[in-house]
Amino acid sequence: MNAYRAALLRFDEANGQPLYETDGLLVVGPDATGRQVVQAAGAWNDLKTRYAQVPVEHLPGKILAPGFVDMHVHYPQTDIIGAPADGLLPWLENYTFPAESRFADPAHAAGVASFFLDELLRNGVTTALTFATSHPASVDAFFGEAQRRKMRMITGKVLQDRHSPDGVRDDTEQSLLDTEALIRRWHGVDRLGYAITPRFAPTSTDRQLGGAGEIAQAYPDTWIHSHVSENKDEIKWARELFPNARSYLDVYRGFHLMRERAVYAHCIHFDDDDRALMRETGAATAVSPTSNLFLGSGFFDFEGAQRVGYHHGLASDVGGGTSFSPFHTMLAAYYVGREGQTKPGLSLAPSQLWWRHTGAAAQALGLGGVIGNLQPGCEADFLVLDPAATPLLARKTALAGSLEEMLFALIVLGDDRVVERAVVGQAGA
Ligand code: GUN
Ligand code: ZN
Repeated sequence: MNAYRAALLRFDEANGQPLYETDGLLVVGPDATGRQVVQAAGAWNDLKTRYAQVPVEHLPGKILAPGFVDMHVHYPQTDIIGAPADGLLPWLENYTFPAESRFADPAHAAGVASFFLDELLRNGVTTALTFATSHPASVDAFFGEAQRRKMRMITGKVLQDRHSPDGVRDDTEQSLLDTEALIRRWHGVDRLGYAITPRFAPTSTDRQLGGAGEIAQAYPDTWIHSHVSENKDEIKWARELFPNARSYLDVYRGFHLMRERAVYAHCIHFDDDDRALMRETGAATAVSPTSNLFLGSGFFDFEGAQRVGYHHGLASDVGGGTSFSPFHTMLAAYYVGREGQTKPGLSLAPSQLWWRHTGAAAQALGLGGVIGNLQPGCEADFLVLDPAATPLLARKTALAGSLEEMLFALIVLGDDRVVERAVVGQAGA
């Protein structure tokens, strides 16, 4: 076991309220299965006697916080971050598909996966649900790199057997065989998990979506990962291709692709029936505000999500998204929440923005109490944050009169410079 003494941020797992110790102690050590977990977390004064034998690293002025969870990102789009386009569909055609076609090459895939995972850690993201590409080699490369780093990571081969160019389009029957083989190879190995990943309904045939739904029923603890209701042109296209569905989201229900652990990016242009379907099925939204602002897709309705009450958490959606930094994503989520012309505007509290990118994101992935928090029993993936990382941050966080003010200063002014260290899956001590 070992312990860290500093300010300590965690959350009440039941209601997402922040718990904060200005002088806290985080004790970590292996559980019965050898996983590195939180053994104790609380005030230094309350815990120091009980853990007197454990070596303590004292980090005055720093904050211990849960690693961030990125609910939706594309590791193969690392190199096309910041590619401008006239909205989603031209962006896919002109930048995304050409970049993704290179991932047939295992060496290219491994190189990008390695850079991507290092970049996540540098930014304080310790778990991500990421798209791979349609090439099985892109999944093997990613899982191999994540396994070497002992990270909790989820990915899957993209399914796209129509309306896709040569180089990324897959074969219907082979794509389903590949998916099942990859599940058997990787799902549940160390901290790795598999996501059945139809790109979005317009690029899959009925047979491919139906096959994906069958696999999702046969392997109920795998994830499902896709996009829905991001862009008006995309929605029009989906409605033309699936005229019998009540809505674009309802297409996925019809193919048994809505259940717990089903994660849909965007979910912007929803009505209340769509929201109710999310709630009833236990599916989750990956809210991707920097991507939605960059591609001009629209504004996620946080009020609608809260009112109806369904799982939602934050995501970068790089390369549509413009930053790997959870601080940038939280700030963009605040902007999107404030927008009040196309939907009700509201002010998301700083601690709630933070919760949506940690514990709530973990709950949305079906991993509540496993990651995204620093309560006893959680896996010990945590960050050492420096609230004085820049002169302006030092000034603003020193002036903060409350926890909310301090967290907001970090969200508005922070980036990778705040993340002094990210600790993941460390060996037992
Ligand atoms: N819809 C289908 N594919 C994609 C993608 O790669 N990025 C985003 N943002 N939306 C999509
Ligand atoms: Zn995406």
